[in-house]
Amino acid sequence: MKSAGGRLLAGLELDRAASQPLHRQLYGQLRMQILTGALPSGTRLPSTRTLVAELGVSRITVVSAFEQLTAEGFLRSRAGDGTYVDTLWSEAAPQQPMPRPPLSARSAATSSRGTDLFSEAPYSWAPAETESFVASQIASSAFPATTWKRLLGRHAGRTDPLMIGYSDPHGYRALREAIADYVNDVRGLGCTAEQIVVTSGAQQAFNVLAVLLLDVGDMVLVEDPGHISGRLAFQSLGCPVQGVPVDDEGAVVPDGPAHEGGSPARLACLTPARQHPLGMTMSPARRAEWIAWAQRNGSWIVEDDCDSELRYRGKHLPTLFGLDLSRHVITVGSFSKVLSPSIRLGYCVLPEDLVEPFASASSVIGRPPPMVLQAALADFLSEGHLHAHLRRTRRLYAGRQDALLEAVGQQLAHRIEARPVDAGLHVVGRLREDIDDIVVARGLAAGGVYTYPLGEYRLTRRLPPALLIGFAGTDEAHMPYAVGRMAAAWDRWERSSRRY
Ligand SMILES: Cc1ncc(COP(=O)(O)O)c(C=O)c1O
Repeated sequence: MKSAGGRLLAGLELDRAASQPLHRQLYGQLRMQILTGALPSGTRLPSTRTLVAELGVSRITVVSAFEQLTAEGFLRSRAGDGTYVDTLWSEAAPQQPMPRPPLSARSAATSSRGTDLFSEAPYSWAPAETESFVASQIASSAFPATTWKRLLGRHAGRTDPLMIGYSDPHGYRALREAIADYVNDVRGLGCTAEQIVVTSGAQQAFNVLAVLLLDVGDMVLVEDPGHISGRLAFQSLGCPVQGVPVDDEGAVVPDGPAHEGGSPARLACLTPARQHPLGMTMSPARRAEWIAWAQRNGSWIVEDDCDSELRYRGKHLPTLFGLDLSRHVITVGSFSKVLSPSIRLGYCVLPEDLVEPFASASSVIGRPPPMVLQAALADFLSEGHLHAHLRRTRRLYAGRQDALLEAVGQQLAHRIEARPVDAGLHVVGRLREDIDDIVVARGLAAGGVYTYPLGEYRLTRRLPPALLIGFAGTDEAHMPYAVGRMAAAWDRWERSSRRY
C-alpha cells in the first residue's frame, strides 16, 4: 500500500491572502496532483487530523475538499481504513503530452489576413488612444450614450416571456418593422418587415448566407480589392474565391465563367453603394450589368451595404435589391458604423422565399442577438434618434474629413495624395513613392500610428500603394497634431530603415 507521506504535504501550498477559499485551494491542488499522476492510484492520503495539523487549517476545510474530490471520483474512502486515490482519474492521467488532432484545414482561412501586422486585432491597438486612423473607427465621443442608456434601462428590467425566453429567430418584430421603415426611407430598398431578419452584425449574415447558399467548393466572386472579413466567411466554409477588378464604375462584371472550363460563380459579394475599400459608387449601367449576370448564370448577389447612410455629398443610387425583380439579390446591412460595432446588430433583407430558410440557419449558427439590445434599437429607430444621430455624425465626419485632408496637404503632401470621399469613414491616401504599403503601415504602427494598407485588401491584382486613413476617430481640432504624429512616425521609420 502506497503512502502519500511528506511528498504530498510538501507539494501543498495554501495562500491565506488569496481570494479563493482554502478548501477550494486544497481541492484544486489535490486534483491537479491526481490528474498529473503525481499522486498515483491507490495512494493513501494522510488522515484529516494530520492534514489539519500540518497545514494549519480547520477540519472543515480538509473535510470539504475531501468530500468534493470523493464526489467527483478522485478519492475513495474505505470504512476504518482512510482515504485513497481512486483509479477513475489517476489511471487516465497523461504522463506525457498526448498528440491531439490538428485544426481543420478550413480554419486556416479564418486567419488568412496576410500580414503579421493584422494578425493583431484593431481592439488591441492602443485602445486608450482617442485618436486613431483605423478605417472602421467611429467617433466614440459622439455615441448617444444618454439616450442609449435610457432605452436599455426601459427594457432591461422586463420579465415578460418575450424578453426573457428564447426569442424569435427572425428577430424582434418591432425592430424588423423599424428597420424596414429605415431602409425604405434612407435607401429606397422597397421591402416589408417580413423580409428582414435581424443578425449579430453583417458578419453573422455572411456566415449564415455562406451556409445557406453555398456548397463546399462553389466559386464565389469578390471585389479585388475588397472587404476582408466577408471574403473570409466564404473561404472558411471551403469555397474558393475569385477576385473581380474594380474600376471607376465599381466592380467589373466577368465575361465568362469564373475559371477556364468551369461553371459560373454561384455567388458574387459586392459593395455597390460605396466600394470597400476604394470608395467609388457603382454606376447605374454597372448595376444593370450585374443583375443581368446573376439572372443569366442563375447566381446570387450579396449586396454588402454597411454604411451608405454616411454620405456627405452625391445622391443615393437605387440598391441592387430594389432593381432586381428576379429575386437573386440579398442585401446585408449593419449598425456597426452608423452607431457602434460593439452592439453587434445588423440585418439581412431577403427575397420572401429565403426568409424562413435564413432564419432557421441563423438560429443554428448563432441564435438571435440579445432581446434587450434589439428592443432598445427598435425604440432608437422608431423614436427618430438614429436620424438625429446620423445628421450629427454626418456633419461631424464631414468636418473631420476636411481637417484630415487639410492637415495631410500641409504636412504629408510629399508622401501621399488623398482626395475627398463622398461617403464612409476613410480616405485612400495614395503613396507618391512606389513602395510596399504593408511595410509602410507596419513602420507607422511601430511608431504607434495605425492605418490599414490597401495591399491587405487585394487578392491577386497589383495595386498602386496606398493607406486607408480613417478620419472619424480623430477630433477635428486635434487633426493637425495627429497628422503631425503620423508625419513624425513616418520620418522616424524612414530614418531607421535607412531610406534617405
Ligand atoms: C464592407 C463592410 N461590410 C460590413 C461591415 C460591418 O460588419 P459588422 O456588422 O460585422 O461589424 C463592415 C465594417 O467594417 C465593412 O467594412
